[in-house]
Amino acid sequence: MEPMTANRADPDARADLVSYLDFHVEAGVDAALDEHPHDRFAEAEAAPRAPAARVDPAPDREPPPRRDTPSGQASPLDFRRELPSRDPPPREPARTYGNAAGAKPGEAADDARARAAQVTTLEELEALLRGFEGCGLRFTAKNLVFADGNPQARVMFVGEAPGADEDRIGKPFMGRSGQLLDRMMAAIGLDRSSAYISNVVPWRPPGNRNPTPQEISICRPFVERQIELANPDILVCLGAPATQTLTGTKDGILKARGRFYPYRLGDGREIRALATLHPAYLLRQPVQKRLAWRDFRMLKSALDGSAPGQ
Ligand code: URA
Repeated sequence: MEPMTANRADPDARADLVSYLDFHVEAGVDAALDEHPHDRFAEAEAAPRAPAARVDPAPDREPPPRRDTPSGQASPLDFRRELPSRDPPPREPARTYGNAAGAKPGEAADDARARAAQVTTLEELEALLRGFEGCGLRFTAKNLVFADGNPQARVMFVGEAPGADEDRIGKPFMGRSGQLLDRMMAAIGLDRSSAYISNVVPWRPPGNRNPTPQEISICRPFVERQIELANPDILVCLGAPATQTLTGTKDGILKARGRFYPYRLGDGREIRALATLHPAYLLRQPVQKRLAWRDFRMLKSALDGSAPGQ
């Protein structure tokens, strides 16, 4: 598409420019990564034609955003996106992995674990993450999304990764799924003063794509340390990625939900982790709210000490 240029003083040209931007927003574009637009069609035309050859995808190329299932039903795995993004994810800048320049992702995860082990407070952990360059997501995100709520609370909710609203505000669960989470918590007498909230990945993946396994493994030591330092009695894993990352189960969320898993903290203490559906999935599949309601009643009973929690 022709890059749009307009004389901003001309009201017609201005209206055209606004509708051109609206078109892109509707199409799912939500980040401009470059100063100037690129006409990729013209670049492709101008490029000398290479001989046909099978080219393996670049090892660091991200997979395209996950689509809905062919039936048109939202998949329970596809819980984080609040708005479908139809564009391929923007290319990310070259990655650096912590201090170890050129280190491989496995080394970056080791580096993250070593650094996370050294902090002794949540404030130190947040400061560590602010300076951490080992995960490429931090270069495309606007803000670190560390946590919200009360770190002294008995219950800690963990989602997958921030979306656009969270990235803009710098706090987890601020958008529509956050509003639903607030209502779900309120139904069992919780709010952000009696719960602590975070994500497995503290930076927004561009275009709301799912974080890659590599990004999750780099960020995981940090969320594990965050859980240890917050020291809740009960952890609630929202959706499949949080559940699989934190409990180690390979089960899908519809099987895993409604169960308490043992979760071992660094000091050997064991707490319980309850798996439940992600609010963004519930926004897409409201009929499943009845399952989440069952899970939240289990959570309430466990917090009240009125049931063994299983
Ligand atoms: N979805 C998540 O998993 N986390 C957020 O913070 C917001 C939406």
